[in-house]
Amino acid sequence: MKPRHYLQFSDFSRAEYEYLLERTRWIKAQFKQYKAYHPLADRTLAMIFEKQSTRTRLSFEAGMQQLGGAAIFLSTRDTQLGRGEPVEDMAQVVSRMVDIVMIRTFEQAILERFAGVSRVPVINGLSNEYHPCQVMGDIFTFIEHRGPINGRTVAWIGDSNNVCNTWMQAATIFDFNLHVSTPPGYEVETERAGIYGARHFEHFADPMEAARGADLVTTDVWTSMGFEAEDAERKRDFSDWQVDADMMKLAGPDALFMHCLPAHRGEEVSADVIDGPQSVVWDEAENRLHTQKALMEFLLLGKVA
Ligand code: CP
Ligand code: NVA
Repeated sequence: MKPRHYLQFSDFSRAEYEYLLERTRWIKAQFKQYKAYHPLADRTLAMIFEKQSTRTRLSFEAGMQQLGGAAIFLSTRDTQLGRGEPVEDMAQVVSRMVDIVMIRTFEQAILERFAGVSRVPVINGLSNEYHPCQVMGDIFTFIEHRGPINGRTVAWIGDSNNVCNTWMQAATIFDFNLHVSTPPGYEVETERAGIYGARHFEHFADPMEAARGADLVTTDVWTSMGFEAEDAERKRDFSDWQVDADMMKLAGPDALFMHCLPAHRGEEVSADVIDGPQSVVWDEAENRLHTQKALMEFLLLGKVA
């Protein structure tokens, strides 16, 4: 039987997300009460990193251990991948030795090639195109603070990157409005985001207008990993796309602020916003742990409740 993978947000249905969010609430409550829950005893997660990470590595590694399993960290530099071993060969070998794999890499096609021959579930821990685990954690965080996200408005300010593409997929599945404002030349490629006839998506030339009345304002670095050569140019092009106190005022006092982190205060977000009362960035980071535990449980055991 072919394993189930999680390579992009649209790989799961709304009903499956509702199940995962419910499991996340239960798993988080157990964790907060120091109650052991070891459904993945004797299971092993391999984590392959071709880019750096703090949160993704920590949340997957700690999460697998907390579920009773083991996690192994592999980086391009220390494996034969870095010396040109084909992705398919790596997938054959890795998936005979572990039960589940998480990969952070460059092109989405690399993940798809790996998953195409893997005997075990593969999770996208960030690619150039998507970051589904991030947005699953973000949606859980929004619901914890504000209740259901359907019908609400999320404003994305900045680069039309992997996280933005993932929000676009999420808007369709969770039925909320996504306002996106990017500088000219950095607009969303709806085809790349996997969105066709996106009725939940609206582009705004003016970032202030995108944020007006939003329930959630979110942003990300101006220069994502792998795009460092464009850094100076991007700093110039994105200078008007900072989430600051004036922008949050337009969103309103109940609006939340999120950032997947790492953040650059004074660039995509001002310090008073990210460190201010509307910011939920630390809850957002923590919830990566709980949502991914639910995700691994689901991919390995199916529905348990
Ligand atoms: N948000 C996120 O994925 O962080 P890391 O790059 O630290 O994993
Ligand atoms: N868009 C950022 C997200 C980091 C978690 C990047 O790809 O570098």
